[in-house]
Amino acid sequence: MQHTIVMTGASRGIGYVAAVEALRRSRDLHLVVTTRGPGDALVARLARDSGNPQVGWVGAELASLASVRAAAAEVGRRLDGGALPPLTGFVGNAGLQLTRADRATVDGLEETFAVNVLAHHLLVRLLAERITTPARVVLTTSDTHVGDLRHNLGLVPAPRWRAPLELARPSTAPDAGTATAGRRAYSTSKLAVIHLVHELARRLPPGVEAVAWNPGFVPGTGLTRDGGTLTRLVARHLLPLLARTPLAVDVVTAGGHLASLIGGRPAVATGAYVTKDAEERSSAESYDRARERELWEAADRLCGLA
Ligand SMILES: NC(=O)c1ccc[n+]([C@@H]2O[C@H](COP(=O)([O-])OP(=O)(O)OC[C@H]3O[C@@H](n4cnc5c(N)ncnc54)[C@H](OP(=O)(O)O)[C@@H]3O)[C@@H](O)[C@H]2O)c1
Repeated sequence: MQHTIVMTGASRGIGYVAAVEALRRSRDLHLVVTTRGPGDALVARLARDSGNPQVGWVGAELASLASVRAAAAEVGRRLDGGALPPLTGFVGNAGLQLTRADRATVDGLEETFAVNVLAHHLLVRLLAERITTPARVVLTTSDTHVGDLRHNLGLVPAPRWRAPLELARPSTAPDAGTATAGRRAYSTSKLAVIHLVHELARRLPPGVEAVAWNPGFVPGTGLTRDGGTLTRLVARHLLPLLARTPLAVDVVTAGGHLASLIGGRPAVATGAYVTKDAEERSSAESYDRARERELWEAADRLCGLA
C-alpha cells in the first residue's frame, strides 16, 4: 500500500544513507524529509541515488518551535489534500552535538535539548492524530546515554539528569561554555529521547509502535562539526578508521540498519531499544516511569501543548 513517512535529519550522515536505502527498498514509500533551507536539491539527490522519485520536503528549522509547527501543518495539508498517501511513520533522526551548553534558540531554550528532544516531541504530538496503523515512530538515540567508557569511548561525558524544565534552559553554570558541558547536554538529551520513547509507547494508539534506535559509534558524519579544527580533523580522518574494528560502525551500515527499522525490521514490541539491528536493554537509568511522565508534561508545556 502506498504510504508516507516523515523524516528529520535526512540531509547528510546516517540519515541520508537511511533515506536512500528506505526509498530504494520500498516503491510504496513516499518520504517527506524536513530540511532547514530549500530542499529541492536534496530531494533530487535522494531520488537519483535511490531510483525512487516519491520523495518531497518541508522546511523545518528544528531549533524553532514555530518552524516545527509550520512543517507539521504543511504535512497535514498535503495528507488532507490527497497529495500524500496515508501517514504510517515518523523518523526523528536529526541531532546535534555542540561544544557549549549555553546557546539559546529563538524560543529561549537550550539548543541541544530543543533540537534533539523538544522538536521531535512536538512533531510526533502534532502528527500523531494523522498516523494510520500499523505504524512505527523511530527516534534516534545514542550509546552515550549509558555513560560508561564502553559506550562512550571516553569521547562524551555521562548524562546528568535534572528536572526537564532545567534541562531545557541554557546553562548558566561556570562550565557552560565548554565542550564537556555541550557534550554532556548531548548524552543527556539522548537519555531523554529514550524516556520519550517509553512514554510514547504508553500513549500512542494501539498499532503505532515507538522505537528508540542507537546506531552505535559512527565516525565520519557531521555530528562533531561544532568542534574546533583539531576535533574536526580527527573526526573526519582518524576516527573513521575505527569503523574497521568492533568499536564503530561505518555510515553505510548504520544507514542500512535505520532503513530496516523504517521498513519494520526487526519486529519488536513498542518501547523497544534497538542497537544497530538488534533489540537490547538500554541503561538501567533509562527505565523510570516517574521521570518519563515528568518529561512528557514538561515537553508539552515547553512546546505550548499543555
Ligand atoms: N555519528 C554517531 O556516532 C552517532 C552515534 C549515536 C547517535 N547518533 C545520532 O544519529 C543522528 C544522525 O547523526 P549523524 O551522525 O548522521 O550526524 P550529521 O551528519 O551531523 O547529521 C545530523 C542531521 O541532523 C540535522 N539537524 C541538526 N540540527 C538541525 C536543526 N536545528 N534543524 C534541522 N535539522 C537539523 C542535520 O541537518 P543539516 O544538514 O541541516 O545540518 C543532519 O541532517 C543524530 O541524532 C545523532 O545524534 C550519531
